[in-house]
Amino acid sequence: MADNKRPESMARITTPALAQAFIDEQLAALRAQIGDKKVLLALSGGVDSSVVAALLIKAVGKQLTCVHVNHGLLRKGEPEQVIEVFRNQMDANLVYVDAVDRFLDKLAGVADPETKRKVIGAEFIRVFEEEARKLEGIEFLAQGTIYPDILESGPVKAHHNVGGLPEDLQFELVEPLKFLYKDEVRVVGKQLGLPDGMVYRQPFPGPGLGVRCVGAITRDRLEAVRESDAILREEFAKNGLAGKVWQYFTIVPDFKSTGITEGKRTYDWPVVIRAVNTVDAVTAEVAELPFPLLQHITARITSEVKGVNRVLWDVTPKPSGTIEWE
Ligand code: XMP
Repeated sequence: MADNKRPESMARITTPALAQAFIDEQLAALRAQIGDKKVLLALSGGVDSSVVAALLIKAVGKQLTCVHVNHGLLRKGEPEQVIEVFRNQMDANLVYVDAVDRFLDKLAGVADPETKRKVIGAEFIRVFEEEARKLEGIEFLAQGTIYPDILESGPVKAHHNVGGLPEDLQFELVEPLKFLYKDEVRVVGKQLGLPDGMVYRQPFPGPGLGVRCVGAITRDRLEAVRESDAILREEFAKNGLAGKVWQYFTIVPDFKSTGITEGKRTYDWPVVIRAVNTVDAVTAEVAELPFPLLQHITARITSEVKGVNRVLWDVTPKPSGTIEWE
């Protein structure tokens, strides 16, 4: 489709000045498209949807309603950050949906990775649709589609992360980032004043921690994933690795091993550390980590995370291992 091709004349957005020019142009275009009508946006807190939200808040203010669905598979502190930045600092209309129980009930006993993804995607659409129906007079649906999404999947109906949005609701799409590459989205986000923690976030899959709690998700093992991930991120940030390693996270497999804590025998889960560098996620190499740091992270995880007595480091490149474990 012609209108899904990036114009050849469009300069690569690499500087604050170029970002500002893009923002000014988009604000005018968004106001022209939306007029005095209302817009809805599924705001995950990821880079793309956050930048779309910030643009729309500037363009049409309270005509925008952001819906943040907490599916229980977000990282520690993420829902709080979305509320703090968008509701408290940017004064946006933000509907926060606590759907944790709904998702975890639907996922109970589901062990197959692709079925898990489908359950999460389908439930997301259902929750979002319910929220959309509660709001009156919405005519536009904003999406954080970026250029690689279009290149990878042809004319997109669905945002890559959430696995699709309601098709039977008759919305006109608003996709202000659809010709931007990821690095350009970050420059624009920075220029819009979003916090660095949001703009320079590492990639995070739509199914979230769900694919890192290997096999059938249980609440206690999911908490072990969330807590160990928070420790890993904190230690990477403290040790200057946060902006340097492309993606890093923890996984908790669905098996236990014996251990000893304070002289008592334990039978608990291991936590796996995965940290990789890549250009395009098609292949990846393992990030070299200082051994003292690994020892320190291990000590923290085994003493602070409930139900964990062992830490493993995944030193497998892609291929043969994928970046995620399922
Ligand atoms: P793999 O595990 O396939 O991951 O080597 C490559 C990149 O894609 C991310 N990933 C996903 N992102 N939905 C997403 O939005 C998914 O279902 C999904 N699965 C993997 C992964 O985090 C890595 O950056």
